[in-house]
Amino acid sequence: MKVLFIGDIVGEPGRKAVKALVPILKKQHAVDVVIANGENSAGGSGITPKTAEDIFSAGVNVITSGDHLWDQKEVTLLLAEETRFLRPLNYPKGTVGNGSGVFHLDRLPQIAVLNLQGRVFMADLDNPFAAALKEVERLRQITPIVFVDMHAEATSEKIAMARMLDGQVSAVIGTHTHVQTADEQIFPGGTAYLSDAGFTGPHESVLGREIEPVIKRFLTNTPQRFAVAKERIQLQGVLVEIHDQTGRALAIQRISESWNPTMSTSDGQGN
Ligand SMILES: [Fe+2]
Ligand SMILES: [Fe+2]
Repeated sequence: MKVLFIGDIVGEPGRKAVKALVPILKKQHAVDVVIANGENSAGGSGITPKTAEDIFSAGVNVITSGDHLWDQKEVTLLLAEETRFLRPLNYPKGTVGNGSGVFHLDRLPQIAVLNLQGRVFMADLDNPFAAALKEVERLRQITPIVFVDMHAEATSEKIAMARMLDGQVSAVIGTHTHVQTADEQIFPGGTAYLSDAGFTGPHESVLGREIEPVIKRFLTNTPQRFAVAKERIQLQGVLVEIHDQTGRALAIQRISESWNPTMSTSDGQGN
């Protein structure tokens, strides 16, 4: 099974790149399943039923999220009703939504997707390590193919998670920093790993936002409005090939594809 995982989709430019490039990448790499982190898909902050639908309609099968999850209040509808949309598992008991899901697509073996959020330099959620151990054990009773989005700031926390789960899951891919790392590898137990998948959106920016207001914020410590940037749009992510029976990763490859809006027939409306 070949899985394409897409790093944080930022705003309308990110969604447009996904719409244009996912069908091409699926064909080019014989992709079976597409998972995307959508936490910044609505104007750069959060996700709504509409932006989720945009992403699903491009051919994405499962959407994961992270700390920006709550930025748009309509997200509660998604969390309550959309089983293809995941939030980090380690929110307190009783939080609306699902932290994992098992998906059965076409004639493929079942794939479990698990979304976690780190705690280093982030909100103090439940312990993601303890939560992951318990949930992975449960998911492995259903399928050996388990794909983890570890949404976290610190590389140590992401690597430690992947090392702990090595041999138990097919892949641990980091998201959240919006900067793609170059440390893709397969650990000895057969778990594919990348510290961060990067982000999908305008790269002539600071993590997808206009450059000047971010500099001004750092320079003056005053609040600024961070609009989504426009230029040099890229889809970033990773391709992981997984053995259907054992769930072991066979190959991992980083993806960074450019997309030029002038190539599109869409109207280019801003968001
Ligand atoms: Fe994040
Ligand atoms: Fe993000």
